Amino acid sequence: MSACSCTWQIKMAKFYQLSREERIEQLQKAGQLNETAARLLRQSPLLPEATAAHLTENQLGQFPLPLGVVHRLRVNGLTREVAIVGEEPSVVAAASNGARMASLGGGVYAQAPQAHLVTAEIVYAGLSKANLQRIDEAHDDLLAVAQRAHPSIVRRGGGVRDIRSIVKEQFTTVLVTVDVQEAMGANIVNTIAEAIADRLDVLLQTRRLFAILSNYSEQLTQASVTIPVAGVATASGNGAAVAARIELASRYAQASTARATTSNKGVMNGVAGAAIALGNDYRALEAGVHAYAGRGQGYAPLTNWRVDGEFLRGTISLPLQLGTVGGAISALPLARVSRELARIECVRDEQEVLAALGLVQNLAALRALVGPGIQAGHMALQAGALAIAAGASGGEVDQLTARLQDSEKTLRNAQRLLQQLRQEEDK
Ligand code: MEV
Repeated sequence: MSACSCTWQIKMAKFYQLSREERIEQLQKAGQLNETAARLLRQSPLLPEATAAHLTENQLGQFPLPLGVVHRLRVNGLTREVAIVGEEPSVVAAASNGARMASLGGGVYAQAPQAHLVTAEIVYAGLSKANLQRIDEAHDDLLAVAQRAHPSIVRRGGGVRDIRSIVKEQFTTVLVTVDVQEAMGANIVNTIAEAIADRLDVLLQTRRLFAILSNYSEQLTQASVTIPVAGVATASGNGAAVAARIELASRYAQASTARATTSNKGVMNGVAGAAIALGNDYRALEAGVHAYAGRGQGYAPLTNWRVDGEFLRGTISLPLQLGTVGGAISALPLARVSRELARIECVRDEQEVLAALGLVQNLAALRALVGPGIQAGHMALQAGALAIAAGASGGEVDQLTARLQDSEKTLRNAQRLLQQLRQEEDK
């Protein structure tokens, strides 16, 4: 091979074909990683002891998971590298494929809610009518208590936006809605809710049942993408046919809870993995998303795909409880790196990127499902994990992974092939 054709090959190598070091270098050259962030990724150090000890009780160790990036996801006109932490090899591969298809239509456009609101519930059981009236009359006093309970959020332009009560059966719930600005908000809202509840307990001469934020929200982030149908063609199906089948699969999810659950799991593959990489509370995120999906008559899919002439149009709507400051977000060094990679400026931007990610993740899954099926790509990527499970180490992992591509992907077969490989090496 001539030096010239070799150079050409290196230039044309796809992002996923590069070594980890080459990927970091490329992102650094593209200005998507600064020197410090690149060093952190290269060294992949464990968390500092003190950080780890403070992020969990009874700490015994640390549990590393790989961090990969969805390459070139275009959202609102900016090209992002979206970091995902997770153990399922096909997640990043599928999302990168979805990002590539979305870019054929100019990328994803997304819009987060204008204000970042979180609501707390302060719950009383069996209140008298007189007490209900006292709550109404205390409105301004409660507002002042709330502002004093968390002055820093008020200074940052946030704070309580609404206090009102509702009665259902024997329960009276005082709903306190807080603008949490850039934070995910759990600590801010719980601090405010408990301060208000303390004042109410005195006023009502009774102890509240509890006061806590709600992880339910109908503050939705919406995203959409419009792709020429040719962009979803597969090796055996033309674009129009594949797009029509994607629409049918999407309609089916609207009619079937069983399918909607799996479809949303696929969406959350990317969204939850990115939330972890960004240092966010992915449990709150998951709870909110699935509760929202179940808000109507049945459990519904988060996405919708329709063919419109020569185009396939997809949309997603979901509540995304996220933050860019506070809690573990500020303590985890790699969370900052993930934000930098995705060029996330603020919480709205973060919500928009994650909604876009969920949408393209779903597109890639649907295209595979209605096309070649999920297992071909999935198992090819799982082969690496299987090789490791069979006992391969160092250079053996790549060799065994390659042999497994055209062979039965079972642990027993992987062990047999590893033994064969080692025997060949010994000769
Ligand atoms: C697998 O992790 C996710 C999928 O099942 C999602 C889907 O079916 O849409 C492939």
